[in-house]
Amino acid sequence: MVEFFINGQPVQAEDNQTVMQAAKANGYFIPYFCWHPHLSVPGNCRICMVEVTNEGQAEGSGWLDIACNMPITKGMRVLTDSERVRARRKETLQFITLNHPVDCGICDKAGECTLQDYHYEYNGAPSISHDVKVHATKHYALSERIVLDNERCIMCTRCVRFTREVSKSHALGVQSRGDHSLIRPVEDGAFEADPYSDNVIDLCPVGALLSRSFLHKARVWYLEPTPSVCPGCGRGCSVNVWHRKTEWRLKALDPKQNARIDRVTPLENPAVNGPWICNKGRDLAQIFERARAGQAMFKGRPVELEEAIAAARALIASARRPVALVSNWASNEELTAFDQALGRRLACHVKTDWQPVPGERLEDDLLIKADKNPNTAAARALFPPLPADAGAAFAADTDLVLVWGEGFSFAQLPPRAKIVYLNSYLQPENGHADVFLPISVMTERSGHYTNFEGVVTAFAACFAKPAGVAHAAELFAALAAPARGSLP
Ligand code: SF4
Ligand code: SF4
Ligand code: FES
Repeated sequence: MVEFFINGQPVQAEDNQTVMQAAKANGYFIPYFCWHPHLSVPGNCRICMVEVTNEGQAEGSGWLDIACNMPITKGMRVLTDSERVRARRKETLQFITLNHPVDCGICDKAGECTLQDYHYEYNGAPSISHDVKVHATKHYALSERIVLDNERCIMCTRCVRFTREVSKSHALGVQSRGDHSLIRPVEDGAFEADPYSDNVIDLCPVGALLSRSFLHKARVWYLEPTPSVCPGCGRGCSVNVWHRKTEWRLKALDPKQNARIDRVTPLENPAVNGPWICNKGRDLAQIFERARAGQAMFKGRPVELEEAIAAARALIASARRPVALVSNWASNEELTAFDQALGRRLACHVKTDWQPVPGERLEDDLLIKADKNPNTAAARALFPPLPADAGAAFAADTDLVLVWGEGFSFAQLPPRAKIVYLNSYLQPENGHADVFLPISVMTERSGHYTNFEGVVTAFAACFAKPAGVAHAAELFAALAAPARGSLP
């Protein structure tokens, strides 16, 4: 450890730490644009300027230098907010904003933009330039997913370094020099193919890199994040699911807008995903906002949920050789509830709800896992997997199959077996089951998933479940209850 001083206070730093790292670790704030704890240090934005005096030097004889690239030496004295520092930061901001448009009124980054925040903190004055701003491309299609506003770019190069150092696609670079510099993708389409490309949207400290799916969709101050888990693969990345705040509910438009996923961003979790997620994790709306099943059915005929539960309960109670195909999208809590209520009554097998889709990256060294389901580890800790030949799971006299979740063709079921089907989405199979029970999706309930390495992560409910839909964990107790049990 090395002792040095920040704003007159003694501070302990690890060997080889920079002033920025030690200041952050000890709760001192130093502004930064280009620095990022998980990327290399280019030292190009100069906003992190601090005043430094070495041990033995007279007070006031210090120099200004960047904190992000300054190694700590014993006894060094650092001022993070002196008059000289604030004056230099003001000059730096005047330089950075020379050609930056005043776009905040239409910019998706407003409310989360560090340039806006630092401008008010350290500058707050109109531009001193008499020259016309240099204009650049306003709406450059960087990829199908991302649009680039070159006028807003402050050339911090975080996006470029991300593709070189983290996703390894080497897909972005800087073209030209000076105030004609432009971020551009390489021409072979590597950025389009980079399954981690959307991380540059979060990395960009200004509104230069914007998500097409979120573009002009909502002001971020109308939204709130709910901590969740991406179910897209066995990694189980921690994410924030953003949706409209209750106090900003829209009354005049389609009420679905109040219960939709507006965007998904990474939730930093060092034990699972660090600060990154893949693009599939951003597209959870495509999974959860498919047409939902909200109607219980008996032999394809709409019935009340209670009636369907009673029918399913009677079928299970009278079956001689019942089998269950357990969902590997179920939470730990749902699996436990199922095991306690029905685990000994039915012969259980874990099925695979989701298979990789064509073109999807199967697996890599960063995050993405080949198993495209979130809770295979926990499900298989309780029940054996469904054999590759699904027919082997059924005996000649299997007379009932409870199918939980997606991904299983009814054509593989024994022809004379009764079917009790639990699913969340509108699918043709729903009407072919003897009893169909609509269940909630993970954004409508809380729980935990266990990832491929055994790390357990919690997810919270974002929305209320629709009427007529059951939570699976509550359903199992009702299905196992003797005679006339109903939903608790
Ligand atoms: S686009 Fe954003 S992240 Fe990339 S260099 Fe410009 S300001 Fe930095
Ligand atoms: S790596 Fe897997 S869990 Fe993480 S965001 Fe991508 S699909 Fe989701
Ligand atoms: S954060 Fe230090 S130079 Fe950019």
